[in-house]
Amino acid sequence: MSILKSFIVFEGLDGAGTTTQIKNLARYYEFNKREYFITNEPTGNPIGRLVREVLQKKVITTPEALALLYAADRSDHLYNPSYGITRILDEGKIVMSDRYFYSSIAYQSVECSKSLVRTINDFPSPEFLIFIDTPVEDCMKRIEKRGEEKELFDRAEFLTKVRENYLEELKRLPDGVNLLVVDGRMSIEDTEAEIRRYLSSFSL
Ligand code: TYD
Repeated sequence: MSILKSFIVFEGLDGAGTTTQIKNLARYYEFNKREYFITNEPTGNPIGRLVREVLQKKVITTPEALALLYAADRSDHLYNPSYGITRILDEGKIVMSDRYFYSSIAYQSVECSKSLVRTINDFPSPEFLIFIDTPVEDCMKRIEKRGEEKELFDRAEFLTKVRENYLEELKRLPDGVNLLVVDGRMSIEDTEAEIRRYLSSFSL
C-alpha cells in the first residue's frame, strides 16, 4: 500500500465543514510561507464537471456509472501529466484535498456494491486523513441554511448510511495513514486549532 507523503485529505458529510477548515489551514500555511496546493473532488476538470452535472440532475445515469466517473475524475486528479497531485507533491508542496476516495467508499457504497467501489478506487493513501465528524442533524441544518438547491445526496437518511460507511472505513486504514477525527460540533476556531496542533506535531 503506497502512501503519498505530505498529502492531507479532509473528509466528512455534506455540511460537515471540510471546505471552511481546509481554507483556514491553507491560510495558516500561507502565513508560515509553506508551499501548498489546495484542491477538491469532484474536481473542476472535464470529468469532474460531468460528475457535477449528474449531481445537478442535468445528466441522468446509473449509480455504477457515477461511481466510475468519480474514480475517473480521481485518477486524472492524481496522475494528469500537467496538473496531477503526484506531480505537485514531487515539487515538494503540501497538497490538501477536500475529499478523496474515502468519499466514494462512503457515498457510492450506499447504492453500489462496496467491492465494486473498492476495486475501482485502488488509489494510494494520503499521509494524513482528517475526518470532521458532524452529526447528520447538524449537517442537514447547515445544508438548509445555505439555501442551495438540494443535490442528490443532501438527504438525512442517505447521510446516515454514508456516516456509517465512513466510520467502518476509518477502522480499516492501512499503516502509515495518520487519522485525526475531530468533533464537528466544536466552534470553527476550536476545530481549526485542533487540526493545526495535530499536523504541527508531524512538523506540517
Ligand atoms: P462537494 O463538492 O464536497 O459538495 P459541495 O458541492 O456541497 O461543496 O461534493 C459534492 C458531492 O459529491 C457531495 O455530496 C459528496 C459527493 N461525492 C461522492 O459521492 N463521491 C465522491 O467520490 C466524492 C469526491 C464526492
